[in-house]
Amino acid sequence: MRETRAIIERVRRVSNTLQQIELSVDSALSQYQPGQSIMAAPLDHYGWEPYLREHWIPVSMDGNQMVVELPVERVHAPGQVASLISPVGSPIPLRDRLHNLLLIAEDAMPTPLVWLARHVIKVGGAVTLVLAGQAIRYPLELLPPAVEIVLGETDWTWPEQVETTGWADQIVALAPSGTQLSVYGTLYDTLTQLRHHDVPDDFVFGLFYQAFTCGVGACHSCQITGRKKSLLACTDGPAIDLKKVRF
Ligand code: FES
Repeated sequence: MRETRAIIERVRRVSNTLQQIELSVDSALSQYQPGQSIMAAPLDHYGWEPYLREHWIPVSMDGNQMVVELPVERVHAPGQVASLISPVGSPIPLRDRLHNLLLIAEDAMPTPLVWLARHVIKVGGAVTLVLAGQAIRYPLELLPPAVEIVLGETDWTWPEQVETTGWADQIVALAPSGTQLSVYGTLYDTLTQLRHHDVPDDFVFGLFYQAFTCGVGACHSCQITGRKKSLLACTDGPAIDLKKVRF
């Protein structure tokens, strides 16, 4: 965990609600992987630094160019400097021989899944993304063309659910912070039934993005009750194996 400075190079509005910010970042951040994010404090021209940082989630990383996706309400401009504390979180654990990845986003913008989808396709894998509820408002042109999009229902079901969960080597789900525990619990129960109580370790992950107050494992505001021990979304996550969660 370290502090670095970044410069905002470009700001691009990509929908009614989202903008993409292109940042020039310290070269050390080029090693980051999907799942890792940053706590940012944009500085004004007097160098004033806000105490509470914003949580920024990358959608791509290329050399020292990082692109993050933010709500349009946050006003940023090219040339602005930001203080970054990073990395927040751990890389999303992927199996060595991952061929087929199933992503599910319901009622949450799939921003945290975009970099992961790009990465898996780049290394030759196949990605199916189920979008439901508010998630269908996401601009699909921002996703890699190779991603298969499936429209789901608002109860965490989708067409050919049995086939796609059987096809997937891994599943990563994203729900809004207020409902994560309940819907991930329902998803885990469904998978347990479909797989006849044989859900392997590291098969289905939920992304936990409750408000990160410190982002460094100090305040425990992001604690998740695990079956064996408590977990912190900002250090153990954001991807938590649902087999380890006590619902
Ligand atoms: S946000 Fe403070 S411990 Fe996770």
